[in-house]
Amino acid sequence: MIRIEPSGEEHRWPLYEIRNLPEVRSRMVGDAVISRERHDAWYSRMLEDPTRWGWTILADDEVAGAVYVTDVSAADRCGSLGIYVSPGQSSGRGVGSAALFLVVEEAFGALGLHRFACEVLADNEPALRLYRRFGFVHEGVLRDRVRRDAGFIDLELFSLLEEEWQDLRSGLAQGLRERGLIA
Ligand SMILES: CC(C)(COP(=O)(O)OP(=O)(O)OC[C@H]1O[C@@H](n2cnc3c(N)ncnc32)[C@H](O)[C@@H]1OP(=O)(O)O)[C@@H](O)C(=O)NCCC(=O)NCCS
Repeated sequence: MIRIEPSGEEHRWPLYEIRNLPEVRSRMVGDAVISRERHDAWYSRMLEDPTRWGWTILADDEVAGAVYVTDVSAADRCGSLGIYVSPGQSSGRGVGSAALFLVVEEAFGALGLHRFACEVLADNEPALRLYRRFGFVHEGVLRDRVRRDAGFIDLELFSLLEEEWQDLRSGLAQGLRERGLIA
């Protein structure tokens, strides 16, 4: 069973370990190793900043990753998604799907968003599949936005609106419940 709970003090360092794994780092816009100091400062800001919300993903009560809503604008009712799952728990078992479902529910529910956006590297096939299946609409591309040793990579832009989510949420919930992924 997958659930998310607001990230607190107890998850500061377990999430640091997962966020720094090469399989996770390499999928982010910035792929550098994050120092303990930088993570510490980022995490503290996340706990206090009203424009950032973070939840820890728990798979059968084990820390499996994190989901974030950042850049929240109460005036415009918009925000941006962040997600990562530990490679030991991901790769098609449904942890990412369940966690995404739960954070989208928070975004359009408790946080009252109207628009939920995300950015993904053009070579990140698992994330692209996930976002498309969840109804995120492709809005555009920032060409050659990210530089890696092997060359430049496009950054794909997606968003989901609250009325689009209302049409999709019960079907997605049913599928996740049938797989025993969410309560
Ligand atoms: C993207 C991520 C959250 C998906 O998590 P997950 O637990 O694998 O998610 P799921 O098991 O629900 O699978 C999601 C989709 O990815 C596909 N997938 C998973 N692993 C895959 C792989 N190695 N190759 C191709 N597709 C894969 C699944 O088949 C599924 O496709 P579907 O939606 O068409 O059914 C996870 O891979 C991750 O954290 N990656 C590193 C960080 C990252 O990329 N974050 C997003 C940045 S925008």
